[in-house]
Amino acid sequence: MNDRDDLVGRIRQFHTAQAERQFIAGVTEIQSSGACLDADDKTAVAEAALDMRIAAGILAHRFESQFARKFGLRKARLTNSGSSANLLAVTTLTAPELGEVRLRPGDEVITAAAGFPTTVNPLLQNGLTPVFVDIDPATYNTTPEAVEAAIGPRTRAVVLAHTLGNPFPVAEIAALCAEHGMFLIEDNCDAVGSTYRSRLTGTFGDLATVSFYPAHHMTTGEGGCVLTNNLTTARIVKSLRDWGRDCWCEPGESDRCGKRFNQQLGNLPYGYDHKYIYSHIGYNLKTTDLQAALGLSQLTRLDDFCARRRHNWRRLREGLDGIEHLRLPEPTPDSDPSWFGFAMTVLPDAPFGRIDLVNFLEGRRIATRGLFAGNLLRHPAYSDIECRISGSLEASDYVAGNTFWVGVYPGITDEMTDYMIASVRQFVSGYGRSTPVGVSAGEMR
Ligand SMILES: Cc1ncc(COP(=O)(O)O)c(C=O)c1O
Repeated sequence: MNDRDDLVGRIRQFHTAQAERQFIAGVTEIQSSGACLDADDKTAVAEAALDMRIAAGILAHRFESQFARKFGLRKARLTNSGSSANLLAVTTLTAPELGEVRLRPGDEVITAAAGFPTTVNPLLQNGLTPVFVDIDPATYNTTPEAVEAAIGPRTRAVVLAHTLGNPFPVAEIAALCAEHGMFLIEDNCDAVGSTYRSRLTGTFGDLATVSFYPAHHMTTGEGGCVLTNNLTTARIVKSLRDWGRDCWCEPGESDRCGKRFNQQLGNLPYGYDHKYIYSHIGYNLKTTDLQAALGLSQLTRLDDFCARRRHNWRRLREGLDGIEHLRLPEPTPDSDPSWFGFAMTVLPDAPFGRIDLVNFLEGRRIATRGLFAGNLLRHPAYSDIECRISGSLEASDYVAGNTFWVGVYPGITDEMTDYMIASVRQFVSGYGRSTPVGVSAGEMR
């Protein structure tokens, strides 16, 4: 055995030695999300590190091809985060190559008020005007009716996330977009593996985005990607990601494009090195081969991860079915979500508030999370943004005050799920009596 094999073998053993962890109810934290990393993941990263694959290269390309194939799409462009993927997707729609249909400052883009900030921020960063719509409290997604009602003379695109993995009615909204000449971006960061009408989310829009942050369906550490079936769009994404350059050769390549010294662009001299010609106002949002190595390894288990998320969600849903005072989540009709989390909303008739239940669960080491920003417009950063609100944001406000979610990620076992069910049930049924079971008076509202 050579030194390298020995080293990698020891890393594998180290993982096995670390892996065993016993669940002790009320002591071991049940995280809301987390990466599921095994010995293959560790050795994949170690091998990439031994090869010093510290920038984007062959592994990043391999991962891009394999990930695009998983979706049946032509191109995936890796980025350093899901937020960067959203920034690139929106900015791509402003590119001059798109001609008359490109988005221009002041154009309107429909989006949901309840969700994650970086679904919306790229609109503001590009001088576009968000048009906020409300959500359906049953699915935490907006509806085609709300989107249609929000369309105005300057509305040019729709950007929506599949909330907590639950698909928004994407076929209908894509059809609306086609009818009204609007672009559609699916923020698929929380929904890898979800299907709507038996088709994967992320394959309906002009562009879709994914996050590979450890909380998500599979991880590269930090990371994300933009998906598209359109080669022109893919080219723009790549240019914007890679400093805005015109050339599509990789940094280490010379003249694969065949245009290195034989063209004239802009007002540059003829033959100016194509490597350093810029056709977009770009960024550098690339990832590294170290991350891609982890992505390639994780990808082999993505289907298992999604199956486990579905299993955990179903077990929680069945275990809590019929519970009083809480609205339990519903999959969007015609969908099969690859869930990101399990949302619960405290109903108006409840004798307790969200904070009481959340404190109780957290006290039992069950991690809870809010539905991201709740109503984004309630946050300090958004108090004076240029925007339009279509209809009321009543449900977004209700969610901001009354909704939270718990984990279904693959690291959660049946034993943990059953403990979560028992804890929620114990808290809620306790409120039927004079003193809630397991709740001190100080914890009551
Ligand atoms: C819907 C949604 N979009 C975008 C993001 C941003 O992803 P990242 O953390 O990789 O930037 C997240 C993060 O959780 C998200 O939930």
